Amino acid sequence: MCGIVGIVGKREVAPLLVDALKRLEYRGYDSAGVATIHEGHLDRRRAEGKLVNLDQKLGQYPLAGRIGIGHTRWATHGAPTENNAHPHFCSGIAVVHNGIIENFAPLRAELIADGAEFHSQTDTEVVAQLLAAYRKQGLAPRDAMQKALSRLEGAYALAVLFEDQPDMIIGARSGPPLAVGHGSGEMFLGSDAIALAPFTDEITYLNDGDWVVITCDRLEIYDQAGQPVERPSQISRGAAYVVDKGNHRHFMEKEIYEQPEVVAHTLSHYIDFAEGRVRLDTGRIDFANLDRLAMSACGTAYYAGLIGKYWFERFARLPVEIDVASEFRYREMPLPGKMAALFISQSGETADTLASLRYCKDNALTIGAVVNVQESTIARESDVVFPTLAGPEIGVASTKAFTCQLSVLAALAMIAGRARGTLSIEDETRMVQALVEAPRLFNEVLNAIQPQVETLSRELSRFKDVLYLGRGTSFPLALEGALKLKEISYIHAEGYAAGELKHGPIALIDENMPVIVIAPHDRHFEKTVSNMQEVAARGGQIILITDEKGAAATTLETMATIVLPQVDDIVAPILYALPVQLIAYHTAVFMGTDVDQPRNLAKSVTVE
Ligand code: AGP
Repeated sequence: MCGIVGIVGKREVAPLLVDALKRLEYRGYDSAGVATIHEGHLDRRRAEGKLVNLDQKLGQYPLAGRIGIGHTRWATHGAPTENNAHPHFCSGIAVVHNGIIENFAPLRAELIADGAEFHSQTDTEVVAQLLAAYRKQGLAPRDAMQKALSRLEGAYALAVLFEDQPDMIIGARSGPPLAVGHGSGEMFLGSDAIALAPFTDEITYLNDGDWVVITCDRLEIYDQAGQPVERPSQISRGAAYVVDKGNHRHFMEKEIYEQPEVVAHTLSHYIDFAEGRVRLDTGRIDFANLDRLAMSACGTAYYAGLIGKYWFERFARLPVEIDVASEFRYREMPLPGKMAALFISQSGETADTLASLRYCKDNALTIGAVVNVQESTIARESDVVFPTLAGPEIGVASTKAFTCQLSVLAALAMIAGRARGTLSIEDETRMVQALVEAPRLFNEVLNAIQPQVETLSRELSRFKDVLYLGRGTSFPLALEGALKLKEISYIHAEGYAAGELKHGPIALIDENMPVIVIAPHDRHFEKTVSNMQEVAARGGQIILITDEKGAAATTLETMATIVLPQVDDIVAPILYALPVQLIAYHTAVFMGTDVDQPRNLAKSVTVE
């Protein structure tokens, strides 16, 4: 997703802007640019590809100025070329934008009819042209901005420079986040606190519909109606996290190996280790009296939710209605009285998930959120937040956030079971104990299976297609495994409920289609063995991920069998995520792809 920064102050800003943009690289992008005003002159440098290219250009053609804006672009409208890179200019106005202007086509036509000449294929250029048109009509910058915002439909976070106003930046947000950073004699704008961490930890988050005027020592915030408003500032933890790879080759590898620590950290937030029971305030979500729970999320977070569904229904006898967020609200799902809604999101900014949250809020449901970024929009708009304590997840492919989400969902399912009288104290104590022991097991497993997975991944990197199978809570894990592999290695992969194999996918099976079977020796194991036999009978190559009992019970010849420790059902999906993640990671490394920032992907998808 795009990243935005703005700085007005007392230092040469071009290198500072690039530094801030580097801290936004994790969001995914394919071009970048900066603009500054110096001695009354607005100028810019833009470059395709990574920030190193922009850095080189600035080295050749430096940009002076103590006020400027910068942008990393994740292409939506128009190819990732220099000409489409932000900032976009028009008549002494520079604009950077995150989001999608949904009505850009009619606006563009209207402006062209009035004589405007466009120079890019982007929706963003419409904003610059609109502002220029209003300035030409004699409107002051603030009035021009307010009028332009009233014409825009869709999602946007914006930062704007006016050449004839070299002491101020105007920003605005409707959807994608935008924050103000407070400095000493300097003021900042950024997409998130991580971008501003090098400059300040005092942050003011704008609400949806807000727009803001910043100078080196003043901050004016207005609401959609143009009324001045106050927004609280806070000390952000975004600055606290050291964002580096340590001694790992990629952020993704580092984050896979951080899981024992961050899952333990997350569990400690929800478990009373002394009592051996869950300790969790569910706020306004009254599980005891719920008829149904709605859940919605995207991608990996959705697969975590699918596993949560199995747990809520099995341990709390609570029916769960879950859907991917991009479908959830368009189904116009009936939302009867005693219902709450739970949203899962690492970034807390995913547009589809946020829109589903607002749909449920408009239907008067109590809103819960499982999020990793505590200051995020989804967190701020929820009635109760159940944080994952994974720390910043920089790799675009979600790993530690996923296992932390599962840890939170396990705790929620248990507390719901207790509240509804469907989970005995004995069962809760047993499951809690299993969870408490899990992080140590994770450490052992990661180190034990790494060499075997590397060898297997070298094999896998030869194939064009891979199938993942699982039953019960291993089915969403099969979906997640397929997503992980395809999104970072670009090898086509599909996840299927193992029982569905014979209803179609079995037509795909031959020696060119490796099948990864996720099968702890649980109540589904025997049936999954039958599915493996169906695969073997057709020359398919099986990679089995199981435990000691499962390995002992399997006579089939496999391409590889990854053996994990025997664990409680509540721990299995969290533990089995580790080999699934490592297989994807090492295969991608062998494929030579950009593991941390896979092509076309963004870390936080803040557009629908
Ligand atoms: C995960 O590997 C993907 N990059 C993606 O599916 C992600 O899980 C999805 O976009 C949801 O993001 P969120 O958790 O920040 O809402």
